[in-house]
Amino acid sequence: MSTTQSTTAYNYRVVRQFTVATVIWGILGMAVGVFIAAQLVWPGLNLNLPYTTFGRLRPLHTNLVIFAFGGCALFGTSLYVVQRTCQARLISDALAQFVFWGWQAVLVAAVVSLPLGYTTSKEYAELEWPIAVLLAVVWIAYAWLFFGTVMARKVRHIYVANWFYGAFILVMLILHIVNHLALPASLMKSYPLYAGATDAMVQWWYGHNAVGFFLTTGFLGMMYYFVPKQAERPVYSYRLSIVHFWALITLYIWAGPHHLHYTALPDWAQSLGMVMSVILLVPSWGGMINGMMTLAGAWHKLRTDPILRFLVVALAFYGMSTFEGPMMALKTVNALSHYTDWTIGHVHAGALGWVAMITIGATYHMAPRAFGRPAMHSITAINAHFWLATVGTVLYITAMWVNGLMQGLMWRAVNDDGTLTYTFVQAVQASHGGYLVRLAGGACFASGMLVMAWNLWRTVRASSPEQAAQAAAMPSEAQP
Ligand code: HEM
Ligand code: HEM
Repeated sequence: MSTTQSTTAYNYRVVRQFTVATVIWGILGMAVGVFIAAQLVWPGLNLNLPYTTFGRLRPLHTNLVIFAFGGCALFGTSLYVVQRTCQARLISDALAQFVFWGWQAVLVAAVVSLPLGYTTSKEYAELEWPIAVLLAVVWIAYAWLFFGTVMARKVRHIYVANWFYGAFILVMLILHIVNHLALPASLMKSYPLYAGATDAMVQWWYGHNAVGFFLTTGFLGMMYYFVPKQAERPVYSYRLSIVHFWALITLYIWAGPHHLHYTALPDWAQSLGMVMSVILLVPSWGGMINGMMTLAGAWHKLRTDPILRFLVVALAFYGMSTFEGPMMALKTVNALSHYTDWTIGHVHAGALGWVAMITIGATYHMAPRAFGRPAMHSITAINAHFWLATVGTVLYITAMWVNGLMQGLMWRAVNDDGTLTYTFVQAVQASHGGYLVRLAGGACFASGMLVMAWNLWRTVRASSPEQAAQAAAMPSEAQP
C-alpha cells in the first residue's frame, strides 16, 4: 500500500467520454428492454414490421446493455483506475481516442445491423463478421493501452483491481476470437467453423465466460477500487482478494456446459460443468464477503451516503445471484428452471442488481472527479435513483421467479392417464400478470437512469474545461 503523492496529469478526457456514453447507452439499452417487456404483455407492439419484432429487438437489448452500457462503464472505470493506481498517464492519448471512437462504431453498427436481421444467431455473439473483426481490433488496442499503462507504472505494486480488469480484457479477447472463427459467405453472412454439439459447446464456453469475465470479473475490478474508496476504508483482506482472483478465474472457465444440460453434449461434460458451477460458489462468496467486510466500522455511512448504498446493494445482489446460479446448475433444478422465466429472473438479479448497481455507484463516485467538480450536483437525486433502482430490481426479479416456477410446474404437470394437465398456451396466459409487474419494475429502473442523466448533466454543465483539466492534474489520492 503506497501513500506516494504524484502530480502526473492523467488522461481524464477518455474517462469523461466513456462516462457520458455509459449513461446514454444505459438509457437506450434499458428503453429497448422496457419495450420488449411491453411486447411480452401486448404482442401487438411488434408492430407487424420485421425490424421491430421481439426476435430482432431482444438481441439489440442484450447487446446494448452488455456491450454498450456495461462495456463503456468497464472501459471508462478501468482507464481511470489504472492511471490512479499505477500513478501513470495512459501511454497514448491517440490510442485512447481510437478505443473510444472504435467502440462507439461497433455499437452503432450493432444498432443498425441487428434490427435489419443480420445475425450469426449465437447469443451474445450475434454481430456479423465485419463488425466482429472491428471489435477484435478495438479490443486489442484497449489491451495495449491498459497493459502498456500498467507497464509504465510509477509504483511497484499492481493493485488488485487491475488484476481483475486485466483478466477480463485478456480472456474476453480469447473468447471473442475463438467463438467467432467463421467462413464469410458474403459481406454480412458467415458460417461458423464448428458444427453441431461442438458449435454449441464453443458457444456456451464463450457465453458463460462472457458472464464470468465480462459481467463478473470486470465489475469485480470496479468493486475492488470503488468500494474501498467510497467507504474510505482499505480492502478488508488483501490476501483474500488474491485468493479470490486465482480461484475465480481458474474455476469459471469450466462451468459453460451448465447451459447445455440434457442436450446432445456428452453426459460427462454436463456433469463436469455442474460440479464446477457448484464449487464456483466459494470464490464468488469469498469476493462478496471481502467487499462487504470492507465496510467494517463504516456501516453507519450507509445512512447518509446513497453512493455507498448502491455499491453495497450491488454486492448483496452479486451474492444472491452467485448462490442462485450454482443451484440452477444442478441438473435436477435445471430440469425445472431451464426455458422458464426463472432464468430471466436470475439474469436480471445479476444484470440489474449487480452489474447496473455497481456501475451506477462507481459512476457517481468517478464523474465529479473526472469532470473537476467537488461532488455530484444533487445527492437527493442520487437517493431517489437508488430507490427507483432497488424497487425496480425487486419487482422485476420476483415477478420472474413466480412466473418461472409456475411455468416449470405447469409444463411438467401430468394427469393420471399420463396426458399433460395444461396446454402451453395456458402457461403463457398465466404468465401475463408477472409480465405486467416486470414491465413496471423495468420502467422504474429505467426512469432512475433518466434521473442520473439529469444529475450528470447538471454536474457537467457546472464544470469548465479549465476545471476538468485541473482535475486531471490533481495530486492522486493514496491507493485504497
Ligand atoms: C457462481 C455464479 C453463477 C453460476 C454458477 C451461474 C449459473 C447459471 C445457470 C445454471 C444458468 C441457467 C442456464 C440455463 O438453464 O440455460 C445461468 C444463466 C445465466 N446467468 Fe448465471 N450463474 C452465476 C452468476 C451469474 C451472474 C453474476 C450473472 C450476471 C449478470 C449471470 C448471468 C447469467 C445470464 C446472462 C444467463 C442466461 C444465459 C442465457 O441462457 O442466455 N450469472 N447461470
Ligand atoms: C430497464 C431494465 C431492463 C428491462 C425492462 C429488461 C427487459 C428484458 C426482457 C423483456 C428480456 C427478454 C426476456 C425473455 O426473453 O423472456 C431481457 C433479456 C435480457 N436482458 Fe434485460 N432488461 C433490463 C435491463 C438489463 C440490463 C441492465 C442487463 C445487463 C447488464 C440486461 C441483460 C439481459 C440479458 C443478458 C438478457 C437475455 C437473457 C437470457 O437469454 O436468458 N437487461 N431483458
